[in-house]
Amino acid sequence: TKPVVTVIGSINMDLVTIANRVPSQGETILGEQFHLIPGGKGANQAVAAARLGARVHMIGAVGTDTFGKELLHSLEQEGVCIDNVKPVTYVETGIASITISDGDNRIIVVPGANHALCPEDIEHCEEIIAQSDVCLLQLEIPLSVVEKAACLAKKHDVRVILNPAPAQPLPQQLVEQVDILTPNEHERDVIFGGMDVSQFAHKLVVTEGARGVTMMKNGQPTLIPGFSVPVVDTTGAGDTFNGALAVALSKGMRLEEACLFGNAAAALSVTRLGAQTGMPTEDEVRQFLKTKKGCLE
Ligand code: RIB
Ligand code: NA
Repeated sequence: TKPVVTVIGSINMDLVTIANRVPSQGETILGEQFHLIPGGKGANQAVAAARLGARVHMIGAVGTDTFGKELLHSLEQEGVCIDNVKPVTYVETGIASITISDGDNRIIVVPGANHALCPEDIEHCEEIIAQSDVCLLQLEIPLSVVEKAACLAKKHDVRVILNPAPAQPLPQQLVEQVDILTPNEHERDVIFGGMDVSQFAHKLVVTEGARGVTMMKNGQPTLIPGFSVPVVDTTGAGDTFNGALAVALSKGMRLEEACLFGNAAAALSVTRLGAQTGMPTEDEVRQFLKTKKGCLE
């Protein structure tokens, strides 16, 4: 049977502009391409998990505008259950304005409807959370919602993965409730600041872009190396990693193995344009890992 992953998080329309360079202040330049691509860290991780073979419930909020409708439709097409995505009439669907030049991205997120999600919405989904293998969270929705979700998941002994992006300081209680925290290096520094990380080290999987991820193995920080691939667009690479990690752990893989699976999925995702449009299927990841097997041993 398929593992069940419940994602509680953001749903955005990504407005993606590709340009040769970034304009300076007051300057107008011509860009190369423009695309509307479904995004949002929550929805991205949901789609990643679904493509990699999980049954996925998405809990979130969109506006009743055209972007909202399109995003719901595209989640449905991916086989993600959208019964618990709340339509809101008084604020627009979340968007991300993304500029890509030279394979690097710059992003402005306007949360809109994502911030209309409230703890009560999560309470209504207690049953779904209780029946999940993993509850997957990020920080593009109100922190109170993330805290409620983590709380309910713990109550039912459901594993919680928190991808703490975008970076913000976190209450210690939330960090305690989370089983796995997946910050990049910057996010780790924001969360733990001056704090002593050692008591939480065992739950940290720090993503380091193309280099891979660092996790604790036999009490030592250990790099699980990434794969070097031609980069088209890194948007959503972290989300692909998190979705893959959730699926792999639900299937009973050990953390190290799950990180490697996540690295492979993330590597494939950066070779293609767009967050969700670039995400690989389970078969693609297996194929890819097979071809790389020699370098792993
Ligand atoms: O992690 C990538 C995502 O962050 C994009 O899809 C964009 O929507 C922003 O939320
Ligand atoms: Na991509």
